[in-house]
Parts: sequence; C-alpha cells; structure tokens
Amino acid sequence: MLTKKWSVDNADPMKLNYPQLKEAAALLQQEEVVAFPTETVYGLGANALSDQAVQKIFEAKGRPGDNPLIVHITKKEQLTGLVDNLPQLAEKLMDAFWPGPLTLVLNSKGSVSRFVTAGLDTVAVRMPDHPVALALMEVAGLPLAAPSANLSGKPSPTSAAHVDEDLNGKIAGIVDGGSTGVGLESTVVDCTTEIPVILRPGGVTKEQLEAVVGEVGVDPALTSQDQAPKSPGMKYTHYAPVAPVFLVQGGLDFLKSTVQKAQNDGKKVGLLVTEETKSQIGEAGDVMLACGTRSDLSTIATNLYDALRAFNSTDVDIIFSETFPKSGVGAAIMNRLEKAAGHKVIKER
Ligand code: TXA
Ligand code: MG
Repeated sequence: MLTKKWSVDNADPMKLNYPQLKEAAALLQQEEVVAFPTETVYGLGANALSDQAVQKIFEAKGRPGDNPLIVHITKKEQLTGLVDNLPQLAEKLMDAFWPGPLTLVLNSKGSVSRFVTAGLDTVAVRMPDHPVALALMEVAGLPLAAPSANLSGKPSPTSAAHVDEDLNGKIAGIVDGGSTGVGLESTVVDCTTEIPVILRPGGVTKEQLEAVVGEVGVDPALTSQDQAPKSPGMKYTHYAPVAPVFLVQGGLDFLKSTVQKAQNDGKKVGLLVTEETKSQIGEAGDVMLACGTRSDLSTIATNLYDALRAFNSTDVDIIFSETFPKSGVGAAIMNRLEKAAGHKVIKER
C-alpha cells in the first residue's frame, strides 16, 4: 500500500492546509487508517464507528484484539452519542484538563465499533490538545479511534519519522505536524467508580487530578506485578528498543562500575541518562544519550521515546538507564521505563 504524506502547519492548519486535511479526511471517511499528531504521541486514526476501519488499526499495528482503543473527539457534545450516565467528577476533569493529555474511561453507549472497546462495557475518550488533530477530526466529521501509531511493543512515536519507520506501506497516510510536545501518552482514568482511579500514568499527574477532584486512586497493578491491570493494554511489554534495557538504581560510581562490568564481559553498552549525569560521568559506555534535565522532568518525557528508538540505529548489546523519582510526571516516566526494561532493575547495595 502507498502511504501518503502531508505536511501540515501547526499554526493555523484549517487556513494554511485545508486541501491536505481534506485529502486525509477523505481517506478516513473511506474506512482507511491515517496517522496524525497529538500533543502526547502520534495516533493511528480510524472512524470509531466503523468495524471495518477499526479492524485495520489492529492489523497495521499487530495489536492484540483484547486491547481497547481510545476514542478522540473535538467537542464535549459528542459525548452524548458515546457515553451513558456521565458522572459529575468526569465533567469536572474534562473542564479542567480538556483539551489535553487525559483519557476518561466511561460507561459506553455501545455506539462505537465493538472492536474499539474490545468487548468491555466502558469506552475510553479524550479530546487532544493539538491543532492538527482537532482540525483533521473537524474536517472528517468523525470521532477517531486512535492508539499510538507504532508497531505493538515498540516505543510510541513522537515524530512523523517514527511513524514512517514502523508503518510505511501498512497505512493509507501520515499527517506530519512536527514533533509532539508532552512525549508520553495521556493519563487514563477510570471514572466508572466512586473514586476515580488512574489506570495508566501520563501527561496529567496524580497531583493535578487530586487538586480538581480530591481523592484519586491508583490501579494496584501499577505498583504490583502480581495484579491483573484494569487497563488491558498495560499487561503487555512495551516501549522496548531491540537491545535489552536495565534500570540502574544507585549513585554515579555504581552506574560507572555497572557499565564497566558489562564492557568487561565484551558487551557494547548504551547509556540513557540526564544532562547532569552526562556532564558528571565523563567517558562511559559506548553510546551515551542524554534525554533531558533532572531539574525539569517534562524534558525527559518529551525526549524519552526518541532516545529509546535512537539506540536501534546503534550496535549496542545492552542499555542501562537512570531512574527517576515517581512523583509528578516522574510516575509516567518510570512506568514507561519499567516496561521498556521488563522490570529488570540493578540496585546498588
Ligand atoms: O496519548 C494517548 O493516549 C495516545 C494518543 C494517540 O491519544 N493514545 C494511546 O493509545 O496511547 P493506546 O492505544 O496506545 O493506549 C490506550 C490505553 C491502553 O492501555 C488501553 O488498554 C486503555 O487505554 N484503554 C482503552 N479503552 C479502555 C477501557 N475501556 N477500559 C480500560 N482501559 C482502556
Ligand atoms: Mg500504545
């Protein structure tokens, strides 16, 4: 299949790139799959109301059928067609964080394709904060089911080039709106319980949610590997580059000696670190990538997936990563890193 590409301006897409949007929207209306930028990561969009279209998402990504998709909308009014019994706390969260990196799990009306919800009686909905995503949906006149636009198991795409790397030839088109900002996926919150529960940490932090609705729970599966997650997608290995990733917990000297040991065993070592560590550690490892500053963890979030992908174009045999405090956006960063590492941690004693 030929994958069409359109470059679209973020400043005023409707005015500057209407013909491109129209072409991409026409493909979506013809049940095709088109990737588009959001503020978190690129999404792989299809008409959420069409079985045929949504099935193509699963095929292109190689995604297991029991992993439901997020429905993206442009206006709150669209919810009445999708959702039953909207709780007040969900309204509060939407007013505070939409458009933005927050996905709400709500009671489904059953109007979207059964492949979107993977047989659950709930549906996940979000309004992305990206001018190109909103414009594309506006022109198509459709709610779009969209997972991250990567092959299942790979790091999520934060640029059109990442999407192209994974899905060229497998999808009808890619709308290129430059690099995404947040860099990690939306926070998924279950709003069907009395107290809302975080199923996946993401761009909106627990602290931010609590400031709006008071008590917020966390799915026990996020802190214990013995629990089955309520968000089906969270059980799969994810975000992983080709070489195995290990999280290294300890001081700078411990990181250095861990690297040295692996090199002594004949391994080529990749290091994923902060700017601070890079400037302090000197020569270490074979490939060192700094992905942001410890003084502002959102910079790590923005660049994390690009760094994980970048190791794939090197010849490293093993990747060691620094760890981060699990508060604020650190919770989402550590969730993704732990998955990329398959929970392999090397601890200083
Ligand atoms: O930022 C994002 O959320 C991006 C952009 C494209 O919007 N999308 C994204 O989609 O990350 P995906 O498919 O990679 O992740 C969706 C997550 C999965 O963990 C899935 O299991 C969960 O949301 N999910 C979807 N519907 C659900 C439901 N009804 N109940 C519980 N979890 C659900
Ligand atoms: Mg994903």
